[in-house]
Amino acid sequence: MKKHLVILGAQWGDEGKGKIVDLLSAEFDAVVRYQGGSNAGHTVVVKGEKFVLHLLPTGILHPHTIGIVAQGMVVDLELLVKETEELEGRGLKVWDRIFISDRAHLVMPYHKVLDSLFERKGKIGTTLRGIGPSYMFKYGRKGLRVCDLEDKDRAYQIMKDNIEFVQSLCEKVYCENHFLDLEEIFEKTVENYKKIRDRVIDTTHWLLKFDGKVLFEGAQGTMLDVDMGTYPYVTSSNASALGLSSGTGLPPKYFSEASFWAVSKAYTTRVGEGPFPTELKDELGERLREKGGEYGATTGRPRRCGWLDLPALKHAVDVNGLDGIIITKLDVLDSFEEIKVCVAYEYEGKSFDYFPASLSLLEKLKPVYKSFKGWLRNTKGAKSLSQLPKEALNYLEFIQSYLGVPIVMLSTGPQREEFFWLEEPALKS
Ligand code: IMP
Repeated sequence: MKKHLVILGAQWGDEGKGKIVDLLSAEFDAVVRYQGGSNAGHTVVVKGEKFVLHLLPTGILHPHTIGIVAQGMVVDLELLVKETEELEGRGLKVWDRIFISDRAHLVMPYHKVLDSLFERKGKIGTTLRGIGPSYMFKYGRKGLRVCDLEDKDRAYQIMKDNIEFVQSLCEKVYCENHFLDLEEIFEKTVENYKKIRDRVIDTTHWLLKFDGKVLFEGAQGTMLDVDMGTYPYVTSSNASALGLSSGTGLPPKYFSEASFWAVSKAYTTRVGEGPFPTELKDELGERLREKGGEYGATTGRPRRCGWLDLPALKHAVDVNGLDGIIITKLDVLDSFEEIKVCVAYEYEGKSFDYFPASLSLLEKLKPVYKSFKGWLRNTKGAKSLSQLPKEALNYLEFIQSYLGVPIVMLSTGPQREEFFWLEEPALKS
């Protein structure tokens, strides 16, 4: 493996990245989150204790790591303070191990008001955490950055302008009055800023000087990437590898020293609206949801479930330039007599072996499945390939040969120690 490591979501998020990043970060000196915000919910179980991290990098759960909240994130200061204080309350010293980028943008209460208003029409099914509107303000050059809070007059003026804009939008476009108390929002933000102030630095230059091994932790998944995903049913950041350079401020060539791995479930889920060609809206989908505990870590919403979609996964392999795949939750399939994987799509007699951009086309595509005999045996907690039934090996071999990249690890349960490495060449193909 190269010096640094990038871990991404290969699907629509919720692939189990939290657990993977947690266990891998034991070998790294710093862990970095670089896009998205509190829309993420990374769940980790350490010695039976459950942690759900929304803003801090998951790797911070190891006492030796330095955690970076890089510039590409949109930060809800209130939640950041809460999350950090909660970890401290559970005995984890984190304050002196985190750095927050001075260039990161803030998620403000008025962004959340807009998030819920936008959801009324043309619903995306967002997490309502204000993520999209915060990025809108950033790219519309109206955003409020962490560094702006050093200059109270400037910060006050930005908040005032933003609140006036949002309130008039609410009144004139949505015919609703949303009172946003400028003084209260300003005071609260300044109060929270005081708590993090001595952890705010230029994280780009810090990383450029840092000689240790760094793990970059993607949030959401490639299919939710604003450019490469199922637009407009995506999140508002580059959740694929495309977001690394802009999200950290590091030059693209920095990442030539990194391995790129992505995490995929052995089946597919998504939350919110949008195309999902292999979705199962029947009893099988329900079974996947119940067996897999498929309910959102951030919103508690039931996740939509379906078979593994290989053209979508191949899209993730290609756009991220993946060196390897990590498969999670194979055991959820343990009780299925028949397991299907989508190998292509078809529409009006035409076959598609790639994931198309057009929403209109995506909505019409029908999956073409290859069927596998289920293994009907317990694989949870397996520690080597030799402990897997041959039907499960067939399934994994097929995935690997379709994708053309090795499966490097299997996660076999939620606990830190429930995983094993696959030595290369791990599977026959
Ligand atoms: P937003 O990121 O809250 O704007 O939501 C946009 C879309 O991304 C919605 O479909 C959300 O359900 C989805 N989404 C955002 N964050 C996550 C995540 O961490 N896991 C899975 N889906 C997510």
